[in-house]
Amino acid sequence: MPKLITILNGPNLNLLGKRQPEVYGHETLDDVKRACTALAAELGYDIDFQQSNYEGGLVEMIHAARETSAAIVINPAAYTHTSVAILDALNAFDGPVGEVHISNVHKREAFRHHSYVSQRADFVIAGAGTEGYLLALRRVASLVGGM
Ligand code: DQA
Repeated sequence: MPKLITILNGPNLNLLGKRQPEVYGHETLDDVKRACTALAAELGYDIDFQQSNYEGGLVEMIHAARETSAAIVINPAAYTHTSVAILDALNAFDGPVGEVHISNVHKREAFRHHSYVSQRADFVIAGAGTEGYLLALRRVASLVGGM
């Protein structure tokens, strides 16, 4: 198995740090990428950290991960609640999948309570802020290690 973990971010997460900081905090996506890169190195992995505002772009990144990556960590953002296409793409990926939400979606509007991606995810982390990415990285690495 390749020593690569793909970390995917959905729409509007390029605005992290600027967008609704009372909900999503002040860290930028670059800050999250830096923290993930450092932790992954400690765990013995490289990461492919990506963001797209397009559903099809995310689907194609998941397809690419089939060939390159041992695991996927994904914050599908708003597509969490709408996208059968992303669920289907993840179902075509063989390794562990961790779903991350910065905010606690269950404390928010009812439309955020349902996730299509959770039907495939091996675990879900919500409400841990951007630290959720690091928790997810540790967990997918241990799932890959145990496979
Ligand atoms: C989010 C929660 C989603 O409901 C929302 O659409 C996002 C971000 C989170 O990280 O808390 O864009 O996935």
